[in-house]
Amino acid sequence: APAYTGLSSPEAIADPYPYYAWLREHAPVHHDTAADVWVVSRHEDVMAVVRDHARFSSHQGLPVDNDPFNPNPAPPWAAVVLRRVQSVRVLLTTDPPDHTMLRRRVAKAFTPRRIAAWEPRIRQVADELVARMAERGGPADLVRDLASPLPTTIIAELMGIPAERHRDFKRWSDQLIDGLFTGGSRAGMMRGLAAISWFFLRTVRRRRREPGDDLISLLTAEGDEPLTAPELVTFCVLLLVAGNETTTNLVSSAMAALFARPEQWARIVADPSLAEAAVEEALRFDGPAQGLLRIATTDVVMAGVTIPAGARVLVLLGSANRDPARWESPDEFLLDRPNTRDHLAFGTGIHYCIGHLLARMEARAALEALARRLPDLSPAGPPTRMTSPVLRGLRTQPVRLSPP
Ligand code: HEM
Repeated sequence: APAYTGLSSPEAIADPYPYYAWLREHAPVHHDTAADVWVVSRHEDVMAVVRDHARFSSHQGLPVDNDPFNPNPAPPWAAVVLRRVQSVRVLLTTDPPDHTMLRRRVAKAFTPRRIAAWEPRIRQVADELVARMAERGGPADLVRDLASPLPTTIIAELMGIPAERHRDFKRWSDQLIDGLFTGGSRAGMMRGLAAISWFFLRTVRRRRREPGDDLISLLTAEGDEPLTAPELVTFCVLLLVAGNETTTNLVSSAMAALFARPEQWARIVADPSLAEAAVEEALRFDGPAQGLLRIATTDVVMAGVTIPAGARVLVLLGSANRDPARWESPDEFLLDRPNTRDHLAFGTGIHYCIGHLLARMEARAALEALARRLPDLSPAGPPTRMTSPVLRGLRTQPVRLSPP
């Protein structure tokens, strides 16, 4: 066995892929006793779990009150907030038939046509952020200056949030993510959750009175089956949690892979349309969502191991995406891979990421803008990484804009 002591070990955070390879080979269904989760690592088994929502439930799959990866105690008042929050159905953590109904109601906001209409604005924001980096010159940070503000700005605009609130928006969202995924303060997380829920509740009420042509108005519209106000509030929170950090991480991880392979970056500079292939390969190679949690509804035997009813199951999408049984040369980052889009970075089955078109478009726009305007971009020091075993990406990514 490698020196890893589990998914949260510093070695696994720095580079989980050798550990995943060991798991696939020696313990494809592994009980991680520290986190008390059953870890599933082979492509075939990951697919089987994620597609079997009857035996592997998403209900309570989001670890809010008993997070296996956050040892910080919840504040005493958290129970009150949680009871309120958990009484509301949330798309990500429901099973059919609730999930089917919720998904139908929100899907209209994420159709290919609606998302395509945002492409010019997404490109404009990406170009502006990159232009600002270029004008400032000197050292820059790709996360701070591009990867983070791009999705936050776009989701805020999609929701019709006025520009002067974007900063608060970002702060609350960061507090939430920090507590949920990176072992940050759980009191901070709960405060962020409360602040943003209150803000969305007021926004929802306002849009009911004065609808605009934003996402929240669309979802509050008195159509055939409108969402309730609390359902809409938690859906908005979900969009922040599920969409912002992941897209930021996709851009930073894609650029990290390209910095390590200057010849591939040179190809994208020569032909920016290759950014699309780079984004897909980055999703497979080093995706933002490394693991998904499920709850076994019954005893399940998998790879000769019995997963007991009630157990938490962690499916490693990041491992499935590197499984040599599924991919040729899985540990190579290739722009010409014929079937990159078959990766599991956005999940599969009924919970397949509703924001995938948006995320793909944002990441592509970011890479293309960089390739066009900052072809000599290179790393200017070691990046720092998020310390979560389930969410992978960089916190800081210092760069220089011209050749050293
Ligand atoms: C679901 C990944 C961006 C909204 C998911 C799932 C994954 C995922 C793996 C499935 C979860 C499960 O099966 O339990 C990603 C990645 C992204 C990204 C890697 C960026 C690169 C976004 C964006 C949005 C979004 C931009 C919205 C603006 C959602 C929602 C769900 C979801 C609402 C729940 C869908 C459901 O339960 O039916 N995402 N996501 N995601 N994602 Fe994303």
